[in-house]
Amino acid sequence: MAFLSTVMVAEPISECYKAICENEGITINSFVLENLEKTTTTRNFTLNLAGNRKQKGFQRLADNDVLALSKCLLNYRTLTGLDMGYNNISDEGAAYLAKLLEAQDTMLRSLDLTFNNIQTNGAEVLASSLQGNSSLLSLRLSGNKIGRHGGLNLAGMLRVNMTLQELELGECDLEMQSMIGLSTALKTNTTLRSMDVSRALLFSYLEEWAVHFSKMLPVNSSLVELHLGKMGLTDTGMERLSEGLKLNHRLRYLDLRCNRVSRDGALHLSRVLKENSPLEVIDLSSNRIEDPGAEYLSEAICSKGSVLRELSVCRNNISTRGLLSLAGALNNSPTLTHIYIWGNHLEEPVCQAFRELLITGRLTPEQSDVRPYEVDGHVFLAELSHHLRKHLFFLDVNEKNAASNSQKLKCLDLRNQVWGKFLCLFLIC
Ligand SMILES: *[C@@H]1O[C@H](CO)[C@@H](O)[C@H](O)[C@H]1NC(C)=O
Ligand SMILES: *[C@@H]1O[C@H](CO)[C@@H](O)[C@H](O)[C@H]1NC(C)=O
Ligand SMILES: *[C@@H]1O[C@H](CO)[C@@H](O)[C@H](O)[C@H]1NC(C)=O
Ligand SMILES: *[C@@H]1O[C@H](CO)[C@@H](O)[C@H](O)[C@H]1NC(C)=O
Ligand SMILES: *[C@@H]1O[C@H](CO)[C@@H](O)[C@H](O)[C@H]1NC(C)=O
Repeated sequence: MAFLSTVMVAEPISECYKAICENEGITINSFVLENLEKTTTTRNFTLNLAGNRKQKGFQRLADNDVLALSKCLLNYRTLTGLDMGYNNISDEGAAYLAKLLEAQDTMLRSLDLTFNNIQTNGAEVLASSLQGNSSLLSLRLSGNKIGRHGGLNLAGMLRVNMTLQELELGECDLEMQSMIGLSTALKTNTTLRSMDVSRALLFSYLEEWAVHFSKMLPVNSSLVELHLGKMGLTDTGMERLSEGLKLNHRLRYLDLRCNRVSRDGALHLSRVLKENSPLEVIDLSSNRIEDPGAEYLSEAICSKGSVLRELSVCRNNISTRGLLSLAGALNNSPTLTHIYIWGNHLEEPVCQAFRELLITGRLTPEQSDVRPYEVDGHVFLAELSHHLRKHLFFLDVNEKNAASNSQKLKCLDLRNQVWGKFLCLFLIC
């Protein structure tokens, strides 16, 4: 018997998949099969089955595919990462994956289910499977309508001690109560380092969620990266949040994309930066800080207290005065290395200032989203498709655990590519 089971495990994973499909009467998904045929399972491996690709004859994964795959994967414990984003997986498929997460000796560290069709029940089974012996470090559920109860279940999971370090719940129709649950969970000791709750459904003008998050921040939560995009955050909410930020000693990455922060909100944030804040990356793109906001931030960036390294102020209705003050901040700050400014009023003095920063090497093309060019003696800026990188510090955790320097170098290389976000983790695992 022992011999037989060894043979089972050594069998190519594609054969295992075909056998299970036959047994269960499931049609073989040729895209899945193709991927499995290329997969070596004798050492740690990851599977990328994301559905956002243009490939002839490609069929998105449905629950049946997940059933066959998860049964098969139970035999291959060297699986460390599974990307099934942008498919048609519903609650049923989520339940099959929960079984995989609960399996003993599983080494699965990252599960990406971004933009599937998982709802409350699916979130509930996933949350409960994570309260067992799961080894999962990263769970991405953004773009699944898990709603208030799904959010509450995941918050409950966070309260029980476990290993998760990254949780993405953007565009999940989370409501106020989920937000309160999540912020409360983060007040107790958890291992979570990165959380995304962008675009929750919040209808109240009172921005109570900002008050709850503000109260969570000073308690030494493990949170290092926080995504709060599309939350309708106003200057008042920013003021509340800043109270917590001033007392926080951990958060390094704050994403406030697509909110309603204007000059006063920028002023509150600049005060945070001046007070020895650990914030290194701030994303304020698509807000409305305008010239005064840009000037407040420039001043803060140059202050002794700030360790800011990367800033995005794209699409903020900033004109020459504000942008020149940011260029000046780059010249005076020892820490700031990346700045993103596209979508503001880039008049000629601004173009000249940024060309100067690029020529002198103060900025490299990878560290900004603009490139200068000249026509008839006039300088203009063109857009480069560079953005702030996500998962910056989540990768850091893994870098620290990396055995060799060469791996670290590979990792840094990839981090410079906008789309290389998860490759690094996989390389190291
Ligand atoms: C966790 O694993 C241990 C042994 O490795 C086992 O005794 C226990 O029942 C497992 N707990 C859960 C919730 O699966
Ligand atoms: C939580 O983690 C700590 C330290 O890792 C451990 O001592 C404690 O027993 C855990 N508690 C639960 C409920 O798992
Ligand atoms: C919990 O937090 C306290 C301080 O707030 C810290 O001393 C302790 O190490 C933390 N425990 C865990 C398991 O993170
Ligand atoms: C958090 O940690 C800092 C520095 O380690 C410490 O000064 C502060 O008292 C801690 N706060 C809480 C609420 O534990
Ligand atoms: C942009 O800022 C200018 C002032 O610098 C203001 O007059 C204008 O209304 C702003 N535009 C928008 C769309 O907010």
